[in-house]
Amino acid sequence: MGGILLQFTFQAAARQTVRLLVTKVEKQRIVVTPPGPKARELLAKDTNILSHSVVRWYPLVAESGSGCFVKDVDGNEYIDFNSGLVVLNVGHSHPRVVKAIKDQAEKLIHYSWTDFYYKPIIDLGEQVARITPGSFPKKVFFSNSGAEANEAAMKMARWHTRKPLFLAYTSSFHGRTFGTMALTASKPVQRRHFFPLVPGVTHVPYPYCYRCPFGLEYPKCNMWCVDFIDEEVLKKFHPPEDTAAMFIEPIQGEGGYVVPPDDYFQRLKKILDKYNILMVDDEIQAGMGRTGKWFAIEHWAGVIPDIVTSAKGLASGMPIGATIAKDELMDWEGGSHATTFGGNPVACAAALQVIDIIKEEKLLENATRQGTYLMKRLKELQQKYPIIGDVRGKGLMIGVELVKDPEAKEPAAQESIDVMNKCFKRGLAIITSSKSTMRFAPPLIITHEIIDEGLEIFESAVKEVAAQLK
Ligand SMILES: Cc1ncc(COP(=O)(O)O)c(C=O)c1O
Repeated sequence: MGGILLQFTFQAAARQTVRLLVTKVEKQRIVVTPPGPKARELLAKDTNILSHSVVRWYPLVAESGSGCFVKDVDGNEYIDFNSGLVVLNVGHSHPRVVKAIKDQAEKLIHYSWTDFYYKPIIDLGEQVARITPGSFPKKVFFSNSGAEANEAAMKMARWHTRKPLFLAYTSSFHGRTFGTMALTASKPVQRRHFFPLVPGVTHVPYPYCYRCPFGLEYPKCNMWCVDFIDEEVLKKFHPPEDTAAMFIEPIQGEGGYVVPPDDYFQRLKKILDKYNILMVDDEIQAGMGRTGKWFAIEHWAGVIPDIVTSAKGLASGMPIGATIAKDELMDWEGGSHATTFGGNPVACAAALQVIDIIKEEKLLENATRQGTYLMKRLKELQQKYPIIGDVRGKGLMIGVELVKDPEAKEPAAQESIDVMNKCFKRGLAIITSSKSTMRFAPPLIITHEIIDEGLEIFESAVKEVAAQLK
């Protein structure tokens, strides 16, 4: 008996030692202060050859990725709370996605679906239509990116309704083509010196309760922000009978991971329906399971958008965009919209796997479970650090807004950059959104353990930056 007990004790101790060792090894992710020598060499070449119209977050020169981790060229490993750019929903290089890409590339890489036919795009169309809200028949237009998916939605809405105008939100992001740039309104630099844009877009305030644009408080406000669209916009200067569609993000992505109140979109849809204005639901950042539902709009029960756009996570790394609409809305004539590369067979094969993986690995459930845990842990940190003004989100799309003090709510813009940079140096890839919101958007396969390790780094950075504020 004593022997067995001793054996058990020994085994438990050994397990504990292994666990400690593993934890220790996991924590040595940074082997050379980034950017290391190889990264620096590439950064110099990059500056010489690539367009300077982009802004890089920090010098992460990625070489490989696996699951929730990305490695740089100097061998540093980072926990990836970014999922690339909110793209790798099933993680880096999921083996099934990699195999599907290889198999499809060996069979057929290209044969433009808008000129000929192939099976993977038909299969994907059926799958995408099935997971999109609404039990009515649908049609799908496949393209290469989020902007293209929204551009197609704009053109389709105009073609079908024969109406010229659109509504969109302040702080929205829908893309950077001339059409989508007219919808996008999150930073002046995105539009400066590019006018004239596509005319006819009016922007209305997004329901950002932490910083209500009307200075009101939910629910006492009775959601004046929705009635404002009807009373002050549609009834005064933006004729509803000339309005084709309103573009929405169910949770604003680039605008700061802002979540509207629970009953918001139901109220909005009623107004849009009253005037026959289509609702275009941009799910490019919030969709494909990120919030614990296939599409984030499903959190607002009963709201069925007329058009849904998807990209980013759809093929978890391969370029693809999808514009999904009620059958009768896609009545545009042959030749009115097409693409050479859109819906490429290799990207379709990857997307088909992504949908299967999300179902089979129960990633909607995992996004909800891990998201609830992450939210709880972040709210605990909020109690400890007054620099954390607001924690909000759904599933694994969570924003942590940093403020100089919780009363005045002045955005802690530089501080959020400092937190981000400290995290990077310590092995956590995380970026900001809008003025001072840290965005938590890890792959949907994440575990409690990886969240804990990431949060340890995040907290150490927040603690140091908050101490400098005092
Ligand atoms: C909500 C939303 N819509 C559209 C886009 C544009 O997508 P893409 O960069 O693939 O053109 C983005 C990209 O960040 C986005 O977040």
